[in-house]
Amino acid sequence: MTVTKDIIYVGVNDHDIDLFEGQYNVPLGMAYNSYVILDDKIAVMDTVDLDFVDEWLGNIKNTLGDRKPDYLVVQHMEPDHSASIDVFLKEYPETIVVASLQAFKMLGNFFRELDLKDKQLVVGNGAQLELGSHVLNFVAAPMVHWPEVMVTYDSKDKVLFSADGFGKFGANDVEDPEGWDCEARRYYFGIVGKYGAQVQALLKKAAGLDIAVIAPLHGPVLTEDIGYYIGKYDIWSSYRAEDKGVTIAYASVYGHTRKAAELLAEKLKAKGVEHVELTDLARDDEPEAIESAFRYDRLILASVTYNADIFPVMRNFIEDLCERNYQNRTVGFIENGSWAPLSAKLMRAKFEGLKNIAFLDTTVSILSSLSAENEAQMDKMVDELISK
Ligand code: FEO
Repeated sequence: MTVTKDIIYVGVNDHDIDLFEGQYNVPLGMAYNSYVILDDKIAVMDTVDLDFVDEWLGNIKNTLGDRKPDYLVVQHMEPDHSASIDVFLKEYPETIVVASLQAFKMLGNFFRELDLKDKQLVVGNGAQLELGSHVLNFVAAPMVHWPEVMVTYDSKDKVLFSADGFGKFGANDVEDPEGWDCEARRYYFGIVGKYGAQVQALLKKAAGLDIAVIAPLHGPVLTEDIGYYIGKYDIWSSYRAEDKGVTIAYASVYGHTRKAAELLAEKLKAKGVEHVELTDLARDDEPEAIESAFRYDRLILASVTYNADIFPVMRNFIEDLCERNYQNRTVGFIENGSWAPLSAKLMRAKFEGLKNIAFLDTTVSILSSLSAENEAQMDKMVDELISK
């Protein structure tokens, strides 16, 4: 695939993967992108997962024919992009590896036997590498997603090689019925969500660049309406709600808490709330629930009390939100317990330290099953949610 006349896509699609990064379901597979820049000198941008090294080397060979790459640019050392470095260097031993100082330290730790000798070029923020008519400009992007990360701007073709930034779950040869946003958002909040400040810093640097194409390490190459994608990243990384809506996440044992969550969803819909996302934390995809919580402006958590604590899947969900700096939202609670419901108080305590969280005045406190009093509490909760 041609990105521009001189930039060729040589990445691969993974349809065998069970869990990305050992935890994320990727029903549409995954893509590990890599690119070749053809000029007087040739640069290869990143490698791919080791399981696909032969296919990737074949793609490079088909692109280069008898020519040899001069540079291998390593933007990110996570093994989904770096694991094939040593195999590549066996095939092309004269290639100079270009990376940040920290990436070279990681490279030594991942590849204990690899000795790059004089075949390495350390580049820092602002460094340039001339390939001929193409000039690569390196921009440090620490913690987007690891500390060694840099992104690369080709000023001739106006291409931003964005590393994990602007990536998406899903193989590139599978059409995503939901378009780009959903799986890109689930990917963003799952993987980079904790580092909003660092993404904001990168966006500020990128604002000074004239970008025609974004070439990430996962997902499709973005060639149109670049402002749309940058706008989404600006919203996500500044922790602003993207849409008005209510996420209701529940943890139920015998179905009474689920019933309460479902009833709340019905009541909200009946009042005209357009986006109501109901999620069973024990059975539905948790990263989808995280994505939903960050997408919308209001969140209701409904949990049974268990071992005098929050039910485990709910505790885990809240911890995942906190770890990703959840903020700027309205949060309310439904608790259940057969003799001493106290999960609402415990859930609320976990949100106390987060920035700009508004708590609903109304809490629904259930003793085993919904009572008439609970229904009245729920109506108050609905009124409060709508007025927010
Ligand atoms: Fe796609 Fe952080 O690796």
